[in-house]
Amino acid sequence: MQQFDPASLLVSRSQSADEGPIIRMSQRARELRAGGMDVVSLTLGEPDFDTPENIQAAATAAMKAGFTHYSPVMGIPELRTALSAKLRAENGLDYGPNDICVANGAKQAIANAILSIVGEGDEVIMLAPFWVSYEITVRFAGGTPKVLHAGVDENYKVPARRIAAAITPRTKLIVLNSPSNPTGAVWTRDELMELAGVVKAHANVMVLSDEIYEYIMFGGEMVSIGSLPGMRERTITVNGFSKGFAMTGWRLGYAAAPAPIAKAMSRMQSALTAGANQFVQRAAIAALEGPRDEVERMRLEYQKRRDMVLKGLRTIPGLRIGDIPATFYAFPDVSGLLGRKAGNHLLDTTDALCDWLLEQHGVATVPGTAFGAPGSIRLSFACSEAEIAKAMERMQRALGSLI
Ligand SMILES: Cc1ncc(COP(=O)(O)O)c(C=O)c1O
Repeated sequence: MQQFDPASLLVSRSQSADEGPIIRMSQRARELRAGGMDVVSLTLGEPDFDTPENIQAAATAAMKAGFTHYSPVMGIPELRTALSAKLRAENGLDYGPNDICVANGAKQAIANAILSIVGEGDEVIMLAPFWVSYEITVRFAGGTPKVLHAGVDENYKVPARRIAAAITPRTKLIVLNSPSNPTGAVWTRDELMELAGVVKAHANVMVLSDEIYEYIMFGGEMVSIGSLPGMRERTITVNGFSKGFAMTGWRLGYAAAPAPIAKAMSRMQSALTAGANQFVQRAAIAALEGPRDEVERMRLEYQKRRDMVLKGLRTIPGLRIGDIPATFYAFPDVSGLLGRKAGNHLLDTTDALCDWLLEQHGVATVPGTAFGAPGSIRLSFACSEAEIAKAMERMQRALGSLI
C-alpha cells in the first residue's frame, strides 16, 4: 500500500487563513488558567454581556412559531425592510430591501463582498492597523493587499492624500473600518469627505465600509461614508449584530450595496452557505425595533472601562496611546519598550513582549503583528472592571521593571 499523508494535500490557501496571534494568545491563556495560573485575558473581541432579554425572547417565540426552516438567501423580507429603515434613519443611507444581503455574521458579509468584486491580481487598499480577516479574504479572492499604515501620531488614520497616491489602475477596493478594530479610531465627516473625493476621482474604485462598532462610541459623530454625496453607488456598507447588541454567537450580519453587487453577494452566499438562521433574523428585527436601553447600558460600561484603561496605560513610561473614541480596544504603541530586557531575557518584538507578559505576569494581550502593526499590542477591555484593574497593575509593574 502507498504511504499517504493527508497534510500533503493541503493547498497554500488553507495555510494562509490563519488568525494566528489572537487564537494563539487566547488559547495559551486558557491553558495557563487550566494549569492553575491566575491569568487576565484581554485577547478576545467579544462583549462579556449576555444578549438583551427582549432579543432572546423574540428568538424563542420565533422558534416556537415554526421559523426553523431555510431562509431566503438574501434574508427574510421583513428583516431587510427593517434594515433599510434603520440605515435610512440612523445612517442617512439610501438602500432598499433588495440592496441588502443578510449574512451569517458580518464576517461572511465581508467575504461575500470581497469575493464578488475582487479577482486575480486586483489590488485592495488596506488601512493598517486593520482587522486581520480582511487581508485573509482578499488573498482568498486572489487579490493583492496594498497596506498603508498610520500610527498613533496620525490618530491611526491614513490621510486621503496617501491613499490617493497608492491607487493604481488595478485598485478595486479600499477597506475602511470606522470605528476601528483594533485602534478605536473614528473617521470624522471631513476626513471621509476627503476620502470620498479620492474615490470619486477614479472610475473603478469602491469602498467597503465596516461599521460594526457604530453603537460603541464615546462621543463624536458616526458618519457612514455611503451617505456622502455621490458615494451610495461607490460603497458597500457592512454591519452586524455581534458587537452593539452583544450577539456574537448568533451569527448575523449584513451588507448593503448597489443592487447588482447585493445580488452577486447573495450568489456567493448561496454557493458557500445559505440564508442566515430564520429565528435569529426574527430576533434581529426585535433588536432593531425594540428598546435600546441595554445597548446604551453596555456602551456606558465600555466607556468607564475605557477611562480606566487609558488612565492605567498613560502611567507606563515608554508606551504611547492616543485617545480611544470608540470600541472596546486599546492599541498602545510599545515600540519604545522593544529591545529592552526583563532580567537577561531580550524583548525585541511585540510577540516576545506579549509572550512574556502572559507567561511571567499573567496578562494576555495580542501582538500588533495580527493587525499589520508590529510596534503595538491590542488589549480588549470587554471584561470586568476588576480584571482591568488587575491587568493595569500587572502591566505597570512588569513594563516598569524592564531595563
Ligand atoms: C471590525 C470587525 N468587523 C467584523 C467582525 C465580525 O463580526 P461578526 O461576528 O458579525 O462576523 C469583527 C469581529 O471581531 C470585527 O472586529
